[in-house]
Amino acid sequence: MAIEDTFVMVKPDGVTRGLVGEVISRFESKSLTLAKMRMLTIDDEMARRHYAEHSERSFFGELIEFITSGPVVAMEWTGESAVSVARTLIGATNPAEAAPGTIRGDLGLLTTHNIVHGSDSVESSTRELEIYFG
Ligand code: RTP
Ligand code: MG
Repeated sequence: MAIEDTFVMVKPDGVTRGLVGEVISRFESKSLTLAKMRMLTIDDEMARRHYAEHSERSFFGELIEFITSGPVVAMEWTGESAVSVARTLIGATNPAEAAPGTIRGDLGLLTTHNIVHGSDSVESSTRELEIYFG
């Protein structure tokens, strides 16, 4: 158990659908603390850097095209076990399979348009926070 910082980002579909407030509300309700926030449109280079681990995957092109398609809201959230707690609130990658009560389970349907990103480890959160807030 440790206090951690994690990187969370409302993806273009979440912004377009007006779900920024809903996402923030769920993290606030969990008692995580919003430490940083900025709205931006990611360019191709930044998107490739963020998702570098997936560069060889079949869906990489689709992922980069989508994540650069409109503004996103990038955030740093702080709290006890923030990395894993954020992933639990977000839910499984495929919203069709994500549990009810999670953001993706309640609000999404398609894997490509899964509303929100959350760092998958402390190492990833450090790397991603540097990309967006460094
Ligand atoms: P994220 O990084 O966005 O928080 O999502 P995640 O950890 O739950 O999933 P990850 O495996 O890191 O995949 C990153 C994003 O790529 C898209 N994806 N598409 N078509 C597919 O099979 C597929 N698999 C993954 C999703 O948008 C996923 O969030
Ligand atoms: Mg991931």
